[in-house]
Amino acid sequence: MRKKLLLGNWKMNKLVAEAEDFGVAAFPLVEKALVHNIDLGVAPTYLSLPIVKQKVHPKMIVAAQNVHFQPSGPYTGEISIPMLKEFGITWALVGHSERRSYDNETNEKCNAKIKALVLEKMVPVYCVGETLAEFEQGLTKAVVSAQVREGLKDLVAEEVKNLVVAYEPVWSIGTGKNASTEIAEDVCRFIREVLKNLFGEVAEDIRILYGGSVKPENIKAYLSCPNVDGALVGGASLKIDSYEGLLNNII
Ligand code: PGA
Repeated sequence: MRKKLLLGNWKMNKLVAEAEDFGVAAFPLVEKALVHNIDLGVAPTYLSLPIVKQKVHPKMIVAAQNVHFQPSGPYTGEISIPMLKEFGITWALVGHSERRSYDNETNEKCNAKIKALVLEKMVPVYCVGETLAEFEQGLTKAVVSAQVREGLKDLVAEEVKNLVVAYEPVWSIGTGKNASTEIAEDVCRFIREVLKNLFGEVAEDIRILYGGSVKPENIKAYLSCPNVDGALVGGASLKIDSYEGLLNNII
């Protein structure tokens, strides 16, 4: 049975003090989530990671929004895996669509990051999803399949068993335009099939999240889909009341 996961992606939001306040306020929510066998997490900015990690409930997942694949070196502006581990951070998003579109994050780069993360026993949350043009041309599955296959190239079953995949149609991120639950389930089931072809039965243990304009009002419908194991939430994860609403509505 896959454990449900609610992960907030704060993107470039919250000053350190605001992130800290949220982390402290979320303490009882983690207790509540634990009772219902749900994992809760947030992905703050790099600057906020240390304090959030220090202040939150020890069972709260604290993820980086990105990471470099090299441990150190001449990569101005980048942060490496050992730097995250120094603060106890063991999760990182990879290939979020905003990074794919603004920072030229290719499937190949995602693959290098995921390989480096699994080597260090970290948990990658690998984000995939098609653009509006691709969706309109009926290319969703072709695009998502290539993202999964190329992003996870050369990995073996043992290495992907803790992986999380997030399906986020680019046209629904931050737009208020939700993918229907039928689309979410269809694509998440398809992703699981691709994972099964690549890695066998371990695909049944890999958590697949839906993301894109998820709110307290619609989260329950997504999480009722058999192949949707949780949600990656941007806007609606920023305020503690809304974050609590997301949790309450999946309990
Ligand atoms: P959104 O963002 O919930 O604001 O649409 C989701 C994401 O980018 O992960």
